[in-house]
Amino acid sequence: MRDQIPLCPPYRIAIVGGGQLGKMTAQAAKQLGFHVTVLDPTPSSPAAQVADSQVVADFNDREAIFSLVRKADVTTYEFEHIDSQALIDLEAEGYTVLPKPGLLRTIQDKLSQKLALRAAGIPVPPFLPVSGHEEAIQAGREFGYPFMLKSCRGGYDGKGNREVSGEEEIAPALQSLGGCALMAEKFIAFAHEVSVMVARGGDGDIRIYPLAENEHRESILRRSVVPARVPAAVQKLACEAARQVMERLGGVGVFCVEMFVTAAGEVLVNEVAPRPHNSGHYTIEACATSQFEQQVRVITGLPLGDTTLRCPAVMVNLLGEEGHTGPAVLSGCAEALRLPGLHLHFYGKFQTAPQRKMGHFTVTAPDLNEAIRIADMAARFLRVTAQNNTGGGGNG
Ligand SMILES: Nc1ncnc2c1ncn2[C@@H]1O[C@H](COP(=O)(O)OP(=O)(O)O)[C@@H](O)[C@H]1O
Ligand SMILES: [Mg+2]
Repeated sequence: MRDQIPLCPPYRIAIVGGGQLGKMTAQAAKQLGFHVTVLDPTPSSPAAQVADSQVVADFNDREAIFSLVRKADVTTYEFEHIDSQALIDLEAEGYTVLPKPGLLRTIQDKLSQKLALRAAGIPVPPFLPVSGHEEAIQAGREFGYPFMLKSCRGGYDGKGNREVSGEEEIAPALQSLGGCALMAEKFIAFAHEVSVMVARGGDGDIRIYPLAENEHRESILRRSVVPARVPAAVQKLACEAARQVMERLGGVGVFCVEMFVTAAGEVLVNEVAPRPHNSGHYTIEACATSQFEQQVRVITGLPLGDTTLRCPAVMVNLLGEEGHTGPAVLSGCAEALRLPGLHLHFYGKFQTAPQRKMGHFTVTAPDLNEAIRIADMAARFLRVTAQNNTGGGGNG
């Protein structure tokens, strides 16, 4: 267990990925006095705006990752779609990478992740590997329609997924997913989507955050409501599933476990992210220790922090408005920032595009319904548009 935080020379944290998750992790690390370097292909990435330095390189630039990790005391990452083999090789050289890159490799492939979860006895939706048309038809026979077709690698915000509503939709779905490895999954007509942030230290200590109730539109998270409005029995099942994921997969770090809750109160794990997560942003203002500080504590070997919810919270994502691509501007601040309990985060992505995650806000209030009411008001005021917008389409 770490007892000291040295400043000269400092303890060096490297973060692969300089987006909003890297930024908020860097902010927590800087608060504690650590040195932070981020790797991201975009100069002046959001995380670089608060870190000590940035390496401008692609996430799959093996040489750059080697040089980054070799200069750091510990390396972490803000998303899954990176060169896990490079990190495995560096770990074999004796460098510390957390969460463990071997587990990252399992998780970054949706099929190997689901196989690992199922083998660990964790409830997941029924699924099948799909390598072509015949197997997709077989999945339709087994699961019925609609079913989900998912690319095993590289998907986020639903981008690698297709809902297949009939046999005639299989061929176009396969074509649009572009011939990569796929899996089919039974469509779960869930009553709620929930997620649990969970932290596990190198010594096996586990801390579980309260359940968030998540609302997605077009597979993009729009709003998280905490505590989730689900029965106590569901909360218990969800927390137990999160604990089992960490213990049985040997996770070290802060993980997000996304789950479906059925009308019958069954809890199924949809996916696991080995990192802080959008649905855990509420922890910054609403919990005793934020998910980002927790991640920094785990990877540097500090004791885990208290995860108690201090007050109800609603987190709303600020997405780039449709039809707007270009230099970003946030408007509506004059009205929104007057609202009590509103905490605004604007990430520092210079360019906006339709549906791009540009920021978020969290409203905390003594009463959940009050937090929801204020968040709804703020959401009507705050808009991310392009300055001097020409009205052209965007590309994420
Ligand atoms: N088997 C399923 N049944 C019903 N809805 C699903 C299923 N799988 C995914 N979804 C919906 O699509 C969203 C995105 O899917 P997910 O597999 O989590 O992909 P991503 O990696 O893009 O987040 C989920 O949050 C959920 O709303
Ligand atoms: Mg997901």
